[in-house]
Formats: sequence, structure tokens, C-alpha cells
Amino acid sequence: MDYQLDLNWPDFIQRYWQKRPVVLKRGFKNFVDPLSPDELAGLAMEAEVDSRLVSHQQGKWQVSHGPFTHYDHLGETNWSLLVQAVDHWHEPAAMLMRPFRMLPDWRIDDLMISFSVPGGGVGPHLDQYDVFIIQGTGRRRWRVGEKIPLRQHCPHPDLLQVEPFDAIIDEEMEPGDILYIPPGFPHEGYSLENALNYSVGFRAPSGRELISSFADYILQHELGGERYSDPQLVPRSQPADILPTELEAVQQKMLALIQQPASFQQWFGEFISQSRHELDIAPPAPPYQPDEVYDALAAGDSLTRLDGLRVLNLAGNVYVNGERLRCDSEAGLQVLAQHLTLDKVNLGNALDDPSFLAQLTALVNGGYWFFSTQ
Ligand code: SIN
Ligand code: CO
Repeated sequence: MDYQLDLNWPDFIQRYWQKRPVVLKRGFKNFVDPLSPDELAGLAMEAEVDSRLVSHQQGKWQVSHGPFTHYDHLGETNWSLLVQAVDHWHEPAAMLMRPFRMLPDWRIDDLMISFSVPGGGVGPHLDQYDVFIIQGTGRRRWRVGEKIPLRQHCPHPDLLQVEPFDAIIDEEMEPGDILYIPPGFPHEGYSLENALNYSVGFRAPSGRELISSFADYILQHELGGERYSDPQLVPRSQPADILPTELEAVQQKMLALIQQPASFQQWFGEFISQSRHELDIAPPAPPYQPDEVYDALAAGDSLTRLDGLRVLNLAGNVYVNGERLRCDSEAGLQVLAQHLTLDKVNLGNALDDPSFLAQLTALVNGGYWFFSTQ
């Protein structure tokens, strides 16, 4: 299904993105669910798929984690099944992410889908990421509060909630409605009937994550071996003192590592192109030879990118799932980065470059792109 989102993006970004929550009534007209509750329940039975069941009864909350073997114990009210990164496992669900590519790929994370029965929800909470919550089948009441400091607590070790809040948005959402929530705004959704919700989640690395990943990169590449030095050492009356100029010299030494453009770029490309969720990788057996890939494309076949694969372009270098691609054809790399489907038309002359063909073949053999006719 080709989902058409009725949204003026420049206006939305200027008024709401990272600023204010908003309900986009009928953002998707005539919305059709890409999957059924039964299919979602089936996915949550798979070991590779990250899922959880959240329920509550008289103010007591329960959380259990998938994979689930059965659902017989569940009643007709007050529970919700939440499945992460469904776009990685279910192609029609992945199509729902497409309209959001008006925002950059590197900021988009995954599609979380929830199925809730009446009264079902995860309770009042905040998220650290932007999210677009699309209402599928059923109606659900969503409340969003102002971004103010709120006390957080854990009614269950795996559930972080906030205290009750006053609503600035209180809306009964209907199929095709979209609720956008920037990071830090408290919200809660309670189902009024059996309901599916689709959360397009975003990704924003924290300083801690960045520093930790960059430090790993430095170690792995044995960078930064040069030591602190002080040929102009300043004598002092108190030997215990560390002088401000010395602290600054240490800081400069660390900043100098971050300010190396080549390694900084390479690290960030590798870091940000890694998926946070498992991918449905199925390498072809036997593997393809480059001439087979060439012949298939020349005959009119096309290659489809694996759903959820992160392919990012940084200063002309293309990174796929944590690795920088290597080949001489910059034009070919750009086609890989910008198109979700590859064919002889968009690849053009790049296919005649042996280094590009070798790289493409390696990607196909890695299960990252696959022939649609397969
Ligand atoms: C949901 O229950 O579908 C979304 C949960 C959330 O607000 O993060
Ligand atoms: Co949330």
C-alpha cells in the first residue's frame, strides 16, 4: 500500500517538530492497517522480535517480555501488546515509514506497533524521542501534557511512568489520525475498543552514547596514542595544584581527537548506520557471482533493500549497517543510498565499474539487498 500523508512538511517542521505536540486529523485518509492483530501476535512469538505485554488491574501493573507462546491467559480488557521494529519483519508495515522520509533517514528509528483491548495502554509516561503515533483500527483516547518536570516512578521494574498530568491535548483518535509528540511531553493512550497503533519513532543519540562509541572507535583503530606533554612546565608553590592551563591542555588534547575530520566522519557514519534492532537477514545460498548480479539486472530484475537497513551518505561516503562501502563509483554509491530499489535504469553506468559490481555483489550476498523475483 502506498501511504499518502496529507502534511505540509515545512510548515509542520517550523511549528511543531521538536517544539509542540499536535494531532494531525486524518493525516492518512482512508487508512488501511498494514497488518492484523493476529499477525502482530504471531510476530511476538518469534525469538528475534522484541515484544512485551503490559497489563493493569486495580492499579497494579504487569509487564512480560516475548517471545510469547500463547495468549490464552489474557482477558478482554486492560492489556496491550507492543512489538518493536515491525518494519524489519513485515513489508507492508515498513511501507508506513515511507511518508516520513521527508525527515532524514538517520533520524528515523523504527515502527513500533501496539494492539490494545479496551482500557489497554502503558500508562502515563514520557519518551526521549520524537514519535508519530498513527491510529489504526479502533478508537483510542490520547492525552498529552505540557513539558514540565514530573516525578517518575516504576509501578513495575520494567515500566517507567510519570505522575498524573493536566492535558493540553485530549483526543479520541480515529483511524488515520496522527499524534505527533516531541521528546519529553508526558502522554498516555487508553483504548476505548480493540485498537492498533503505529509509532514511527526517531533516534537522537545522547552525549553519553556518542562519547562511549567514539571511545570504542579510538581504541579499535589505536588512535590517540600521543601522550600529554609539557615542555613549558610552570613551577608552582603547591605541588598538589593542577593549573587551569594544564586542565585546558588536557581538554584540548581530547578535542583534537574529535576534531580530526576523517576519523570523526568515519566513526559517525559507522555508528549511526547501525540498526538498534535485529534485521531479518537471509543471505542467498549459494552466493551470487558478480556476473550473475550483472546479468540479472541487465535482464530487467531489480534489487530491493532489506527493510530497516540503514544506508547513509556522509560527505560522499556511504555507510551500511555500520560499515563504509568501498568502491570507485561515487555515482553508484549515491544510487544505493538514495533509492530503495535498484535497477539498470537508476544504476546506469555504475554497473560497468567492476569495483561497484563487486561491492554490490557483496551486499547481495550479505542479505542486504535481494532480487525481488527471488
Ligand atoms: C502505544 O501504546 O501504542 C504507544 C506507547 C507510547 O506512548 O509510547
Ligand atoms: Co510513548
